[in-house]
Amino acid sequence: MESAVIKKKVILDVDTGIDDALGVILAIKSGQCELIGITTVNGNVSLGKATENTCKILDFLQAGATIPVICGASRPLLRPLFFEHRIHGEDGLGGALRDAKVLTQPRDGFAPDFICEQVLARPGEVTLVMTGPLTNLALAVKKCPELVKHVKEVIFMGGVVNGHGNVTPVAEYNMYVDPEAAKVVFHAGFPQLTLVGLDVTRRVLLTEEHIDELGDTPIGRYVRQSTSDYMDRSLERNGVRACAMHDPLAVAVALDRSLVKTQRLYVDMETRSELCDGQTVCDFQNRLKKEPNMNVCLDVDTEAFFTLFLGALKA
Ligand code: RIB
Ligand code: CA
Repeated sequence: MESAVIKKKVILDVDTGIDDALGVILAIKSGQCELIGITTVNGNVSLGKATENTCKILDFLQAGATIPVICGASRPLLRPLFFEHRIHGEDGLGGALRDAKVLTQPRDGFAPDFICEQVLARPGEVTLVMTGPLTNLALAVKKCPELVKHVKEVIFMGGVVNGHGNVTPVAEYNMYVDPEAAKVVFHAGFPQLTLVGLDVTRRVLLTEEHIDELGDTPIGRYVRQSTSDYMDRSLERNGVRACAMHDPLAVAVALDRSLVKTQRLYVDMETRSELCDGQTVCDFQNRLKKEPNMNVCLDVDTEAFFTLFLGALKA
């Protein structure tokens, strides 16, 4: 008898943009997630646009009836809004599904409350995968500090510990948008907090050849259309036509931990600097003599990631 796949209970928190959408598609098409809900946050685009884009993706996958979408923070804890339309386009999906009628509607409620309720209802079982600024999780921790004891794991796409930033010389976007929220999360005491930073996400670059593998299918056409402008800009800026799979890698780490190599380290967040706000400061030499607070991804099996990612999207 086939052994039943034990699905991982996941709440996905997104600022649906191009790569968030691909993370949602991976989570659903993998067949390995019990997606308890998708919470939305302002980031790449406004909260309203991120929510609409998330609903469009659920409609596209005909999954809107079973997976609740709950809206969260419409702005960072303290800082002004900082959208990334240059990367994700005005619509946030690179122009894909632009004319799609939105059928799925978000449920009533507020994302931080939803996160608290769902985690406390399933102690020790729920993995939070965060692919946008950490505002919703910071608000959830402030409202319900015992959350940290009952969540199975938090995996977040954010930061960079050995390289340069993608917004400032030192800051990655999700951290830069809401560094105060990141600081709350870093110091909340989560026993299993995993940082999936640019160090590894820059090594999972979707190319035209990968998209060709998806064939002339609805998913293949969606991926090609949503990433096309992003790839053009990547060619102009970096000389390579590719799309970094930042958020899909965070989802993939929840599905298969063996994709990455991690080290437990102390990481703090800069919030009071003229030049370095949003920097993830990683204490590799334990100079601060602080207890490590997270698992930092330092290496990734690129080939294994794309086997998982493309295999799921072709399923
Ligand atoms: O720095 C990349 C991250 O910022 C990704 O999550 C992308 O979607 C943006 O939110
Ligand atoms: Ca994102």
